[in-house]
Amino acid sequence: MADLKKMFDVAGKSVIVTGGASGIGRGYAEVLAEHGARVCILDVDSAGIDRTVKEIGGQTWGQVADVTDRPGLAAAFDTVMERHGAIDVVFANAGIDAGPGFLDPEGHRNPDGQIENFGDDRWDRVVEVNLTGVYNTLKLAAIHMKAAQGGRIVVTSSVASQINEAIVGVPYMAAKAGVDHFVRNMAMELGAFGILVNCINPGPFMTNIAGGRLNNPEDRAAFEAQSLIGRIGTLEDIKGLALYLASPCSSYVTGAQINIDGGSRLRIS
Ligand SMILES: NC(=O)c1ccc[n+]([C@@H]2O[C@H](COP(=O)([O-])OP(=O)(O)OC[C@H]3O[C@@H](n4cnc5c(N)ncnc54)[C@H](O)[C@@H]3O)[C@@H](O)[C@H]2O)c1
Repeated sequence: MADLKKMFDVAGKSVIVTGGASGIGRGYAEVLAEHGARVCILDVDSAGIDRTVKEIGGQTWGQVADVTDRPGLAAAFDTVMERHGAIDVVFANAGIDAGPGFLDPEGHRNPDGQIENFGDDRWDRVVEVNLTGVYNTLKLAAIHMKAAQGGRIVVTSSVASQINEAIVGVPYMAAKAGVDHFVRNMAMELGAFGILVNCINPGPFMTNIAGGRLNNPEDRAAFEAQSLIGRIGTLEDIKGLALYLASPCSSYVTGAQINIDGGSRLRIS
């Protein structure tokens, strides 16, 4: 009979979570720490790291690092190696929103989200964090994991990679679509070294992204209405999938794109 404890065993694993001080990344950090992993949070929010590390407890710790700062990120990975002696699982999760799309939740045209008014700096930063930041993180993960001949990489993409959400700023979707394809390519390249690469594609989750946009009743109602089960996701909802992809349970899964969205994608498309 399958031993459930062994299937989901991550005790002692060395785990990095980028963007782990808040939201979905915090959910990943929490569930891995709750099951005995040694978790290092990398985030730009120093106060958020302190708060989260204190609240999660266990062997969790953190470092300030920006996924777009290549030397800084590399130094943070080196520090994890020095402290843990290994890097077994990397969650490339840090991401930012892109502001409003060309429609508001009521379906009216929103001038700020239209292409001719779109700030080039906004496009550049969203692509830099949400796509290039994933490249920077996976490159470092691959270097360390190839040396160890194994590891798990889990990237947070979005259902926005597969649909056109008019209320979401357009660079967000372009970056996430790029992330999905990058993950598939990395799965192909790194499989021979025992490294599994997958992405989690959430639908709407209650987090601090976009300044906690989903706290706004109108936005929240719009996203709740898209869900086939009538609600948006909570951090508890993300934990099972994170543990699955980090543990022996998913040892034959790579190059996968797993939607976790209460079925929203079916309604929006
Ligand atoms: N919340 C949702 O509805 C939703 C849906 C689909 C995908 N996602 C994705 O989930 C991931 C996490 O977002 P969230 O919703 O939990 O948001 P969040 O704002 O609650 O958390 C994101 C964390 O990333 C950190 N961060 C931002 N830029 C960074 C950088 N350059 N380097 C390091 N850390 C950085 C922030 O400080 C924050 O702690 C993102 O990739 C996001 O695109 C979120």
